[in-house]
Amino acid sequence: MSRVLAGPEAIAAGIAAMRAGRPVAFPTETVYGLGASALDEDAVRAVFALKGRPSSNPLIVHVSEIEMARTLVSEWTEQADLIARAFWPGPVTIVLNKSKTVPDAVSAGGQTVAVRCPRHPVALALIEAFGGPMVGPSANPSGWISPTTPEHVLAGFPGEDLIIIDGGACHAGIESTVLDLSAAEPRILRPGVIGAQALSVTLGEQVALDPVTDPAAPARSPGLLGAHYQPRTPCRLVETGQLASTPQQTAVLSWSRDDHPRGGALIGLPADAEGYAAGLYDAMHRADAGRADEIWIEHPPVNHADEHGAIWVAVLERLARATKSG
Ligand code: TXA
Ligand code: MG
Repeated sequence: MSRVLAGPEAIAAGIAAMRAGRPVAFPTETVYGLGASALDEDAVRAVFALKGRPSSNPLIVHVSEIEMARTLVSEWTEQADLIARAFWPGPVTIVLNKSKTVPDAVSAGGQTVAVRCPRHPVALALIEAFGGPMVGPSANPSGWISPTTPEHVLAGFPGEDLIIIDGGACHAGIESTVLDLSAAEPRILRPGVIGAQALSVTLGEQVALDPVTDPAAPARSPGLLGAHYQPRTPCRLVETGQLASTPQQTAVLSWSRDDHPRGGALIGLPADAEGYAAGLYDAMHRADAGRADEIWIEHPPVNHADEHGAIWVAVLERLARATKSG
C-alpha cells in the first residue's frame, strides 16, 4: 500500500526508498513528481516502468542549486546562468547539452538534458538531504492528468508500494516552462507559468514558442506530442453559450456558472489565470472520479494582454491536449 507521509520522517523515508532504488513521490510548486537518483540507471528505469512511460521520452533532472546543475551539462552557458539567476528556484526547466555524468536512460539516448530547480521547500530539502540530482517526471501514469495533491498521486497508482511526501496542494498547478538553450536560438518547448516575454527580457533576445500544435513542425521534445494530460472520461472544450444545453450525464468544469443546467455535476474554477491554473488538474481529477460519461470544459476567459497572459498560453496548451482525441 502506498503511504502519504509528512515532515522530517517523510524526507528520511523518501531517501531510504530512493537509496534502495525505489521511486518516491514528492511535491513541487508546479505538480507532484516521481523522484529517483538521476545517476542510478536502474532507479531511473524503475521510474519509467512505474509511469508506463515510453523510454524515448526523456526525464527532467531536479537540482537544489546551480552548482549541481553544472555537473549535468557539458557547458553551463551564459544564457543558462541568466535564466537560472532570474528564475531559480522556480518553474523554468533549462535544456542544455548533457555531460557524461547523465545516464542515457535519463536523456532517452539524446545529447541534451533538462534541468530544473524547484521552488517548493520540501522538494529542495529532499534534494539537499539526498545529496544529488533527482529525476522528477510528473507523478502520474503516462498520459493521465498530472497530480497536484497527494490524493491525486494515490489515485494514479492504487496498490503500489509508493511513499508520497505530502507538501499540500501545489501552488502553480501546471508544469514548468521547458526552455531549450541547447541550440542557437532559445525556444520554449513547453509553455508554463514563466512566459516567452519574461524569458526574452532576461536573455535580451527573442524567445520563440515552439509551435506545438503544428503537426508539420519537427518535434524537439518527444513528450510534447499529441494527446496528453487526459482524464479517462472523454473530455471536450466548449464555449460558454453551449453550457445551457449540457446533458445531465455530462460533468462540467465552469468559471461562469454555479450550477449544472440539468442538475448534474458541476465543478467551479476561478476566472483569474493563476487561480484557474492552480485548480485545473484538481477539477479534472474530480470530474474524472465521478460517473459522468463526458466532461465539458468551458473555454477559459483568456486575456493575453494582462500580466498573466503566459499562464493562459500554458493553460490553453494543456486543454488542447486534454481534449484531443487519438
Ligand atoms: O513542473 C515540472 O516540470 C514537473 C515537476 C514534477 O518538476 N515535471 C514534469 O516532468 O512535468 P515530465 O516528465 O512530466 O515532463 C517533462 C517534459 C516532457 O515533455 C519531456 O519530453 C521534456 O520535458 N523533456 C525532458 N527532457 C528533455 C530534453 N532533454 N529535451 C527536450 N525535452 C525534454
Ligand atoms: Mg508529465
